[in-house]
Parts: sequence; C-alpha cells; structure tokens
Amino acid sequence: MYPLRRNRRLRTTDTIRNLVRETIISPNDFLVPLFVVEGKGIKEEIPSMPNYFRYSLDLLASEVRSLANLGLKSVLLFVKVPDSLKDNKGTEALNADGLMQRAIKTVRDAVPDMLVMTDVALDPYSEFGHDGIVSEGSIINDDTNAVLAEMALSHAKAGADFVAPSDMMDGRIFEIRSLLEDEGYHDTGIMSYSAKYASAFYGPFRDALDSAPVALKDIPKDKQTYQMDPANRDEAVRETLMDIQEGADIVMVKPGLCYLDIVRDIRNAVDVPVAVYQVSGEYAMLKAAAEKGWLDHDAVMMEQITAIKRAGAHLIASYYAKDVVQLLS
Ligand code: PBG
Repeated sequence: MYPLRRNRRLRTTDTIRNLVRETIISPNDFLVPLFVVEGKGIKEEIPSMPNYFRYSLDLLASEVRSLANLGLKSVLLFVKVPDSLKDNKGTEALNADGLMQRAIKTVRDAVPDMLVMTDVALDPYSEFGHDGIVSEGSIINDDTNAVLAEMALSHAKAGADFVAPSDMMDGRIFEIRSLLEDEGYHDTGIMSYSAKYASAFYGPFRDALDSAPVALKDIPKDKQTYQMDPANRDEAVRETLMDIQEGADIVMVKPGLCYLDIVRDIRNAVDVPVAVYQVSGEYAMLKAAAEKGWLDHDAVMMEQITAIKRAGAHLIASYYAKDVVQLLS
C-alpha cells in the first residue's frame, strides 16, 4: 500500500501553510541599529550599505518616530565620533554631553516608550579603532573594563534601558553589572555580545563609523586577540554561560547567517533570551546581488530572517528591520 502519510497535504494552500508554519516573523522580533553623527539636517547614505543612513540628532528623532509607526519599538544606537575627539582611552565616551548621551535623550523625547539600547565599546572612540586600550603591543583587558563600566553607567544616567557591550574583553559584564548595581541602576539591562566572532563581515559597519583598526607594531590589524575564532563552536557556549553568570540579561551571537549552528547550541544551553546580530556584511552582500538582479531581494531577505529565528533567535538586530516590517504590512 502507498504510505498513509503524505507530507504535501500540509502544503496544498496558503491557508494550511499559514496554519502549520513554525516560525513567524513580527515587528517585535527586531532591534534596529541606528548610526548617529554630529550636525544638523544630515541623512547620509553609507556607501557600502545601500539605503542605510547616518542621522544627525534632529533627523534621528524623525526616524525613530517613523520606526515606531511601523511597530518597531527597540533601537540599538551607535555613534560616529569625530577624529579630533578620539584617543587611546575613549575619554569622549564618558562625556555626559557626548553624542551618544544626547542621542539617548533624543530618542527618549521623540518616542518615550521606545526601548533604547546602546553600544558599549571603545572602537568608535579609539584613535586605533580597537575595542580596548592599547599598550606595549597588546590590548589591555582590565583597564578597558573599567572604562566600559563607566561608559555603561554614563549611558544609564542618560536614560538607556539596556547597555550592549560589544567588545569581547574578559569579565566586562561583571564589571558593568557591579557598577550599575552600586550606583542604583538595578533596572538597566545588559545585552552582552557573548559569542562575537573575529569576522570579516563587519567591513561596511567600520565604514559607517570610520572605526576600522589601524596597523600597529606587535598588534594585528584585526581583532583576533579578543574576538572569537570562527573555527570554534564549544567556546561560544563557554563564553555565553560565563556572561550569564556575570549578569547578562540577554546574550548575543554575531554575525548571523554563518553562525546558525552556534545560535542553536546556545539556545539549547541557556535560559535567557538569545539575540542574533545580522551584520553589515550580510546586509551588503544581498543588496549588491539584488542590485545586479541576481537575487530576489525581498524573498532572500525574508528567508534569511526566518532562518535566523528558526535557528533559535528570540530577537534579531538587523539593518533589514524596516524593510521586513514594511513588507509584512
Ligand atoms: C564594535 C562593533 C562592531 C560591530 C558592532 N559593534 C564591529 C567590530 O567589532 O569591529 C559590527 C556590526 C556590523 O558589522 O553590522 N564594537
């Protein structure tokens, strides 16, 4: 007799396919990364990220209002710091009236219930483009942590709901959590970039912030001494469990598509929400192929986002957030 089970029965119409779909994408899945610059009336396209922009504070306000109208309620802020304010220790990062601190307030004022997450890392502030303080041929872990904790506190004071350390120093979650607790910021959350790989997919982002690492004596012109080796899988779980012990509320895997095995490992190993960062290079690849007419932009975009969520992401930081939500409506 022919098999009693025919899997195609569940694929015959839109209605039945919709009924049995396992992975549903909604506006609640997204964090929207936003790039902020000094100035007025600035909305400049990032050359390696077509249709993605840096905003000055005035236009940032209108952008977050339009995100809110689309149902996007969480943003992840990054700032492009003028070269004149960069140094080795990220001094400008602690300026209570710095660009990040003003950006937080701008978003708060424009859309009071927007969830504001901030990038905590030295690289946009570093004259060397590194996520840590450079000294005698290496990146100094513990001194960097002290600055990261102060930076996180400064963001909390300015009104950030969550701080998101993206640097990969050891022990920084503990330092940040401890300082926030000591200062009474019990409700400020930490989204840790827990399993962040030394990936070549960050290129367009470094263009956006002008934050690429520079060549230095004895220090590689990449981030392999602190970000993870793309060849490692077990280490990602170890890194992530440590961040949770140190006080991370949300953990993250980055980049997305090439690391979906890691996403599932972590999802199975932890009991906190898992975020995935679909990074700039992933965005740029699809935009370029679509511009050439080689891929169907919207279909591939949805397939990629669905794959990230299916792999185990509870939330997704994506430059496609707006495009996806517009397509869904
Ligand atoms: C740096 C940081 C990077 C990204 C987010 N935070 C780049 C890097 O580690 O060099 C990359 C995001 C992207 O490529 O979209 N702290």
